[in-house]
Amino acid sequence: MILKTNVLLLMAFLLLACSEQGPPKVFTDDANVAAQVEDLLAQMTLEEKVGQMNQYNGFYDVTGPAPSEGDAKNKYEHLKKGWVGSMLNVSGAAQVREMQRIAVEETRLGIPLIFGLDVIHGHKTLAPIPLAESASWDLEAIEKSARVAAIEASARGINWTFAPMVDISRDARWGRVMEGAGEDPYLGAQIGVARIKGFQGDDLSAHNTIAACAKHFAGYGFAEAGRDYNTVDVGTSTLYNVIFPPFKAAVEHDVKTVMNAFNILNGIPATANAWLQRDILKQKWGFKGYVISDWGSGFEMIAHGYAKDLEQVAELSANAGSDMDMESYAYVKHLADLVRAGKVEEAKIDEAVRRILTVKFELGLFDDPYRYCDAQREKELIYHDDHKAAVLDMARKSIVLLKNEGELLPLSKSQKRIALIGALADDNNSPLGSWRIGSDDNTAVSVRDGLKAYSAQVEYAKGADVVTGETAFAVPLNINNNDRSGFAEAVRLARKSEVVVMVLGEHGFHSGEGRSRVNIGLPGVQQDLLEAVYKVNKNIVLVLMNGRPLALPWADKHIPAIVEAWQLGTMTGHAVADVLFGAYNPSGKLTMSFPRHVGQCPIYYNHYNTGRPTGGNGVFWSHYTDESNDPLYPFGYGLSYTTFSYDKLQVQVEPGNKVTVSVEVTNSGERAGEEVTQLYLHDKVASVARPVKELKGFKKYRLEPGETKTLTFELTPTELGFYDNEGEFIVEPGAFSLMVGTNSQEGLWADFNW
Ligand code: NOJ
Repeated sequence: MILKTNVLLLMAFLLLACSEQGPPKVFTDDANVAAQVEDLLAQMTLEEKVGQMNQYNGFYDVTGPAPSEGDAKNKYEHLKKGWVGSMLNVSGAAQVREMQRIAVEETRLGIPLIFGLDVIHGHKTLAPIPLAESASWDLEAIEKSARVAAIEASARGINWTFAPMVDISRDARWGRVMEGAGEDPYLGAQIGVARIKGFQGDDLSAHNTIAACAKHFAGYGFAEAGRDYNTVDVGTSTLYNVIFPPFKAAVEHDVKTVMNAFNILNGIPATANAWLQRDILKQKWGFKGYVISDWGSGFEMIAHGYAKDLEQVAELSANAGSDMDMESYAYVKHLADLVRAGKVEEAKIDEAVRRILTVKFELGLFDDPYRYCDAQREKELIYHDDHKAAVLDMARKSIVLLKNEGELLPLSKSQKRIALIGALADDNNSPLGSWRIGSDDNTAVSVRDGLKAYSAQVEYAKGADVVTGETAFAVPLNINNNDRSGFAEAVRLARKSEVVVMVLGEHGFHSGEGRSRVNIGLPGVQQDLLEAVYKVNKNIVLVLMNGRPLALPWADKHIPAIVEAWQLGTMTGHAVADVLFGAYNPSGKLTMSFPRHVGQCPIYYNHYNTGRPTGGNGVFWSHYTDESNDPLYPFGYGLSYTTFSYDKLQVQVEPGNKVTVSVEVTNSGERAGEEVTQLYLHDKVASVARPVKELKGFKKYRLEPGETKTLTFELTPTELGFYDNEGEFIVEPGAFSLMVGTNSQEGLWADFNW
């Protein structure tokens, strides 16, 4: 639970609610959802229709600024009148059941509520943060992780998650990169789809599947200078080719809901953007579900300078196709009057309500509104051992080995005297990450505990705190910038040890919503701690915990072994220990470029060539005078305890039909391991300039030592084409080159004509 406000208010509310029992409503068993929706719609008053378009926050777990309208009495009265269609931030079978009972038994038509929550990387049992999961490039594991999240959340009354976030982002300063799948639209689309499949399953009406929500439509990941909620200003080519594809893929895979965004796009807030919501999403892509606003994004149009008051907010949003209002109070206050005044056609209200009711029918809420509120299932399923096993598997696969000079890793069990240093090493809360709403604090296995399973020779010294004071989702962090009092003990321990494992990085709440940073090195005094320890013992394994790419050029230059361990959720310590001791051979690859310096942000592998890409020691070319253009660790990069060699790249072209690419990969090391082979394409001359490289295929597989595998990729017009500036998909003949390799910078190249 992230912020417990008003718990007493909630209890009072529930008591009041329980005292007013009404007759249970009888629901039609007509198999035809559309007919049932029409039947219901025909019985609804205008206010009841608007009510379906209104979502209220529960009474605790605030995930946004609390609006002044949101007092409990209003909500209770509105709920009883049928003026509320959905609630967010209510969870737990008992609490959801009570809310649902009011909607079903005390309102005139008894339409059940749909309960939404940010089930982002697990509910009780937490998986790695989504950016970490994406580094696995393992779609099956990612789908399974979302499945586990859905099973636990649905057992606690939740039937709708505000996930996956499919915003592409290239800027490590933006704290919400932790919630996405990185900088690439091709991979991001597939990961988004895997998550949707995991949440929604094959049968949405099953009691353990929940509706997913692709968010934030559109452009939120391109907040200027990486500052959350900031202005977005992108060109059409980026919009069509980078930002839209994961949303389009989500729609094609039947995502039930889409969330719009806080930002403006070409001066028009996404929530009031009819072009985005009606023309592109609903008409062009044929999206059948409903659009939810982001938290108060309607209301925020006043601050954007786009609406003069809440009434205009309601008019603009409803006309633009934003179907449900999260915490703006605009629809519930003004929409019915706007319809009566002729400013919003009732047909538009009907369309929105149809969409919302359809999802409720599909979830089975009309058959059994309490389907998701079974206290017994809740008890049996949360923190289930199977779920822990699944998130452990996911956590291991998410770890990326960034450096391993002199093969310091893996550690051997017989290794004597391992020093473990860093506050994050002994933390069982921070590794839960930022979006742990619903879960319980301090439930992660710490690295210190994880290492115990392998070696009794580990001695621990904190060195320095990363943060001090309260740590919570909605509370600013207090970084320790001064206290070095623990350094001496850490240095003493390091001096007498064979090897030092240092766990450094960001606190779990240092990334996520509203957590943008301009300094993306190690926060606080941790860099000083690292350097102080290095002075007495150079055998350092640096285990990084962070929710975004960090810029760590000093560490890369000096520290022999670096392991990117993100925030890995409930089973963090076991996953890290398995990798450090070699029980699991790391296989993760970065899905965001790690810069050398924050000044390079936004930095991404699929950039354009520019007119002046090279220039040696000269002045007039596209470069920095004081830093390389290259990232420290590129997209797709990650090492293994074995090595892989690439050979015999072959390309066969069937003009107009397909291009077949094959390559031989050999495990040239001494351990079995998994490789992610990546195929990048470059369209050399096009009617709209194309990036220097674009990921168009990947395969993850395991090879025994010495084993060789021939991989085959097929490129069809889908991979060879692109969107022009009118948003039309075109495929142009001409010269291409492609690269197949182990990351976005290393591989074998070939040219071909299509
Ligand atoms: C605001 C966030 O932007 C959104 O992603 C989230 O789902 C809502 N708050 C609800 O918590």
